[in-house]
Amino acid sequence: MSGDHRYTALDHHAAASAPPAPPPLARLRNLIASPSSTARSRRTLAIAATSIGILIIVAAALHGGRAQDFAAGFAARRGRHGAGRAYEGMLETVLRYGEPQTELKKQMGDARFLTGMLFGGQSNQLLALINLLFIGKELGRAVIVPPLTGIHFGAGQHRPFHLVYDLPRFYSLTNIPTVPLSSFKTPGGPGNVDERVTCWSLMEKYTGAPNVHAVETGFEEHKIFTDFWAVPPFPRSSEGAVLEFGPVVDFLSNTTAQLEWVATTRREYLPQKSVPKGVEPSTVVAEDNVKPFFDPVHGVPPTEDDQLMCLDATFYVGDSVPPPPYPQHVPLDPWRVGRAWKEVGQHLHWLPEVEEHANDYLKALFSVKRAKDIPPYISVHVRRGDFKAFHGNTYTPLSSYVSAVADVRTQLQARLDRPSSPTSLSDKPSLRAFPIPPAEYAVVVTTDEPPGSDLYVELAELGWHVVDHDAQRTVERLGEWYPAMLDGEILSRGQGFVGTQWSTFSMLSGNRVEYWQGGVQVVANPR
Ligand SMILES: *[C@@H]1O[C@H](CO)[C@@H](O)[C@H](O)[C@H]1NC(C)=O
Repeated sequence: MSGDHRYTALDHHAAASAPPAPPPLARLRNLIASPSSTARSRRTLAIAATSIGILIIVAAALHGGRAQDFAAGFAARRGRHGAGRAYEGMLETVLRYGEPQTELKKQMGDARFLTGMLFGGQSNQLLALINLLFIGKELGRAVIVPPLTGIHFGAGQHRPFHLVYDLPRFYSLTNIPTVPLSSFKTPGGPGNVDERVTCWSLMEKYTGAPNVHAVETGFEEHKIFTDFWAVPPFPRSSEGAVLEFGPVVDFLSNTTAQLEWVATTRREYLPQKSVPKGVEPSTVVAEDNVKPFFDPVHGVPPTEDDQLMCLDATFYVGDSVPPPPYPQHVPLDPWRVGRAWKEVGQHLHWLPEVEEHANDYLKALFSVKRAKDIPPYISVHVRRGDFKAFHGNTYTPLSSYVSAVADVRTQLQARLDRPSSPTSLSDKPSLRAFPIPPAEYAVVVTTDEPPGSDLYVELAELGWHVVDHDAQRTVERLGEWYPAMLDGEILSRGQGFVGTQWSTFSMLSGNRVEYWQGGVQVVANPR
């Protein structure tokens, strides 16, 4: 279709964001080398020079804690270069060639692989990918990650996963071999061979129909077309909201169980359409009653290919976990803060250049010259847009965000007063103390509401800072992907976070504040 055209546009955006526009062949090298090595080495040099100076001063002043922090930060940055090499080593073992091929199989090394389809907005895509990566880890399979899709702009434009998230860093933190689909086949590449992949349909089990949103997975741009196969009736948990990880992983790792199940689906013509009201079930001919998009008789079952496994939707899979104990937290999707978040989600950081741009935005917002002078703040995500239509016909009132911010201030102060509370024993960092108390922290807001609306006036009256992508000309300068990436990064730097109920973007941002800053999150009361 218009694949070539889309990718020309994409390279354009990628070029604007720092790395020179890579030709398709160099893209993999670029991925291995890391996208902004020049900016980074410049920064590392500066840090090295500064750190030596500071270490001397600090050592002289016998002020060890500060120096330790600094050394840790330096090591983490230096670690990224090591991460690049480790990631490159991994790619060399799971891929056959240093450049994309025309067929998946031609590029697959000796490893076994897992891939999956996506749907919905970018946060939903990310949640599905986090689950996919977690299942890949559990199965011991390398994960082929499809591109992300901008459904709110650019008519479904795709962006390879490694041009949003820092995959070498992720690999060094998790050891999960994660390879972008674009390293197998060049998206829109003229020589690409048409391929069919049969995906286990978790979506049919959950919604009744398979995931036919192929556009939102980017498979077709790589000339990969999907067929679907029914899965067994997996148990649900968390009030029916998710298919439990455990039984799904057990089935996907058990070839005997899969072969038996395939025989069952053929014998019983699964999955069956439900019998309409008033129709006598005994009159239904099973063979003629198979759901659309499935063909258990002539189709190719997923078991035919042991090397490549595909799942049509992983958004609905999860752990059963109790809601977190936040007083005002109206749980969004509490069950999602399970193993997939802890073992995968928290380790997906944005590219270093996104972090750098976020520094620039925050410096401008607070009128300071250096990133280290950015004051501590509480971040707030006010999600509006289409939310009015489907949740009680009203937006969360601004007064709810105000009282949630007050709640966050109290919780932050309590945590600083009791630094040895259980959080310091968990896998989260401990909350940082600043010269000013949480009661005086600034507030930084991101919103999808257009500038010039009443909301902007009201936020200004509160003295809250709003990230304004129109004023900053973010799309023009950096491309359409940047507003959401920058909002995500800026929100995640808060010491505390206030989110909007039902917003998966809020949920992810709140989790990052907890796991990256040791902060607290509260969801504003929607009423
Ligand atoms: C795999 O599935 C078969 C058939 O359902 C079952 O008998 C067997 O115990 C399973 N193996 C494991 C390791 O769970």
